Amino acid sequence: MTNKMLIGNWKMEVGSRESVALARGALLALRGKKQLPEVVVCPSFPALADVRKVIARSHVSLGAQNVHHEEKGAFTGEVSARMLEEQGASFCLVGHSERRAMGETDAQVAKKVSELYAHGITPVLCVGETLAQRKSGISSQAVTNQLQSSLTGVSIRGRDRLCIAYEPIWAIGTGTPASPQDAVAMHDTIRQRIGILFPGLASSRLQVLYGGSIDATNAYRFLREPEVGGLLIGGASVHLSQFTKIIAEAADVLEGLSHA
Ligand code: 13P
Repeated sequence: MTNKMLIGNWKMEVGSRESVALARGALLALRGKKQLPEVVVCPSFPALADVRKVIARSHVSLGAQNVHHEEKGAFTGEVSARMLEEQGASFCLVGHSERRAMGETDAQVAKKVSELYAHGITPVLCVGETLAQRKSGISSQAVTNQLQSSLTGVSIRGRDRLCIAYEPIWAIGTGTPASPQDAVAMHDTIRQRIGILFPGLASSRLQVLYGGSIDATNAYRFLREPEVGGLLIGGASVHLSQFTKIIAEAADVLEGLSHA
């Protein structure tokens, strides 16, 4: 069955009160829809507990925006995968370009992925080329290399899922998304590379998403592409009307596909 996944990355934009309101909005947007997209909301750490209460027993899942790569220890200010598990997170973003820009390395990202799996949390690994790489025509190579080194030493077992978010750095927060055609081409590249890295991973356990300047006006053009497994949404996901419109659109696309 086709699945479309929508992940709201609320970054450091909203606190608990607004996060709760957005989560309620997501629930309302799904109400009455026949085909439900998989919605994941990623509030800031302090808002996780409040949002968890709102989405309990619903079709909306809880995600975190980051995790530390070590299991535990004297790491002031950091949050471990075990702590996220305790908070009820079932997803966690890793390797977001905004974190890589702060010095996060591929090796750390790979350790984070393994830590998350050890605690039953699905990683959403973010990859994407810079503008300079795009201009040099090496986008595919850059993304492939990033996948390879961000997943070194990672093993994926049994029922584990893997989400890869293709987020071209030049498209994040700029108002200029990739074209759906470019996104589709990169999704194919990503699927191929993951197939080589993890030959045992069933395609139904791999979700490839697009992120970067998605809003309510352009989401549909991506969602309707069968290769696009969903969207990772930043700025538009903290605007209730935009976020709920995108959720409703994803539900409609799924409804259309179910009749196709
Ligand atoms: P924008 O949707 O604001 O471009 O951000 C994308 C992003 O970084 C999601 O993780």
